[in-house]
Amino acid sequence: MITTPSACIQAEEGSVAKAVLMPGDPLRAKYVAEHYLEDPVLFNSVRNMYGYTGTYKGKKISVMGSGMGIPSIGLYAYDLYSFFGVEAIIRIGSTGAISENVNLRDVVVAMSASTNSNFAVQYGFQGILAPTANYEMLDYAVKAGQEIGASMKVGPIYTSDMFYNADPGLNQKLRDYGMLCVEMETAGLYMTAAHLKKKALGLLTVSDDVFTGEELSVMERQESFDEMMKIALETAWK
Ligand code: ADE
Repeated sequence: MITTPSACIQAEEGSVAKAVLMPGDPLRAKYVAEHYLEDPVLFNSVRNMYGYTGTYKGKKISVMGSGMGIPSIGLYAYDLYSFFGVEAIIRIGSTGAISENVNLRDVVVAMSASTNSNFAVQYGFQGILAPTANYEMLDYAVKAGQEIGASMKVGPIYTSDMFYNADPGLNQKLRDYGMLCVEMETAGLYMTAAHLKKKALGLLTVSDDVFTGEELSVMERQESFDEMMKIALETAWK
């Protein structure tokens, strides 16, 4: 039996790479491992939150599910950073468009992630902690996206605790304050990285529009996922 201080990740020492890609869905992590990494090896299956390590252009890279919402990604990111030597996590997720300038299929690079979550209260930080991306990773992701001609938007996003929010005015307020899109995890990842002095970046494909209700088809989701994956892999490789 493997013993680690982590209750939710049971992995051999050295089996996790320094850079980890995190989709919300563990089956997506399995798909990424099998389609984008060479020689993937499963390192975690506790609670079916699959984590794999393989190589990309000769460098070790891991991919693991984060689950949904800040508490879930906060917990897995904390354990990866604290107990498995992880230095950088890239969230690879989907998001709903808020800004009029953001279109379905765009890849959003999350510069900051405002939130209605109380997660940061635990740090006793005076005022409001601004969850932000690691600049070097953001810069590299933007360059990687430009190189492949990706339709990419860079800016502030909103991480919500509610998928079905009951406040009809919230989305307009988010638009008024320049939020590009809404999702449910990035602020938790950025705060955890700040707390532990580690690096993080959120990359998101726009799967729906919260104002019009428009959604990507399964095929379109796959194509824009592929574009985001190219950016994520190049950034993790760097
Ligand atoms: N993830 C993808 N689309 C979303 C939406 N509309 N709201 C919150 N999270 C999302």
